[in-house]
Amino acid sequence: MQRRRLGNTELEFTTIGLGTWAIGGGDWKYGWGPQDPSEAIDGLLAGLDFGINWIDTAPVYGDGASEKLVGKALRQAAREDVLVATKCSRKMLPDGSVTGILDAESVKAECEQSLKRLGVEVIDLYQMHWPEPDSQIEEGWAAMIDLKQEGKVREIGVSNFNVPQMERLEAMHPISSLQPPYNMLQREVEDTLFSYCSAQKMGIIGYSPLAKGLLSGAMTCARAAALDPSDHRSRDPKFATPELEANLQLVDRLQLFAKNHSHSVAELAIAWTLRKLEVTSAIVGVRNRAQIEGTHAAADWQLTQEEIAQIEQILSTLDQV
Ligand SMILES: NC(=O)c1ccc[n+]([C@@H]2O[C@H](COP(=O)([O-])OP(=O)(O)OC[C@H]3O[C@@H](n4cnc5c(N)ncnc54)[C@H](OP(=O)(O)O)[C@@H]3O)[C@@H](O)[C@H]2O)c1
Repeated sequence: MQRRRLGNTELEFTTIGLGTWAIGGGDWKYGWGPQDPSEAIDGLLAGLDFGINWIDTAPVYGDGASEKLVGKALRQAAREDVLVATKCSRKMLPDGSVTGILDAESVKAECEQSLKRLGVEVIDLYQMHWPEPDSQIEEGWAAMIDLKQEGKVREIGVSNFNVPQMERLEAMHPISSLQPPYNMLQREVEDTLFSYCSAQKMGIIGYSPLAKGLLSGAMTCARAAALDPSDHRSRDPKFATPELEANLQLVDRLQLFAKNHSHSVAELAIAWTLRKLEVTSAIVGVRNRAQIEGTHAAADWQLTQEEIAQIEQILSTLDQV
């Protein structure tokens, strides 16, 4: 499987990373409904068997549940070469809502808890999950720099940041990577962030390449209407009329293109994000073995310029609602 270097670092990431938000399950504001833990582990192990070499997680995904599953999968895989990325700054409150917290003491305590849940001695990439509260990003970053100097994390990066916020942190210590949303329905990052990250030699790891399942080919109006109430997508306007119908019509058109190239539409959506060399890797959400079986081949699908132009034509037909 293809690998790309993460910005200026020594880390080489496969072009697909395993995403573990959904396997954190339901029971919180941004949950994904019921999840069978053994299926989640099986999905992660299958991804590693396909040659994927890194996993993205966060403490807030199910209040530690996702990190614990990643830890179990790592122990079962019994491999030394799997890179682990996790995050700090999002805390779940007792009512299942989430708040941002970046004071130094909290960041350091979060890191200790992540190391324990993951069962690793060092976190390969430690990311500030959201720049919230904005007034505390420098304090949180200073704590992350300390953690790097103490050898608890190898590289430090950010997620969901804009350019002025990254400039503030870059004045203190280079940022290894940015993790923004990037998919066919959400491509604002191309305009502002890609050129900044390239200039700063930062890696970009794009999240939600399947637009949380909308571009997977498995979403339908009936399925969206039947989403479990503990699945946050049941409250997301992209999964409701009229945006849902417009999105699914676009997926139908993309599906034709993908089929003509002997791939699934999910693989097309992922490969499309990787056409940009600024993108180190796409983090693909995995809930079970079948899902990664249906997406891993995207890692090595290199679209030609002609194909990219044809896809652009299809994307321009998305009805604005
Ligand atoms: N930094 C951040 O703020 C942030 C935000 C979002 C995500 N992330 C990271 O990025 C990762 C990926 O993003 P994401 O989880 O939002 O979504 P995604 O990769 O766009 O979509 C994943 C979802 O698509 C469906 N799916 C995946 N493969 C499929 C297949 N072969 N066939 C049919 N359906 C399939 C599954 O959902 P269903 O089966 O339930 O439909 C799966 O949970 C996350 O897990 C997380 O690690 C980070």
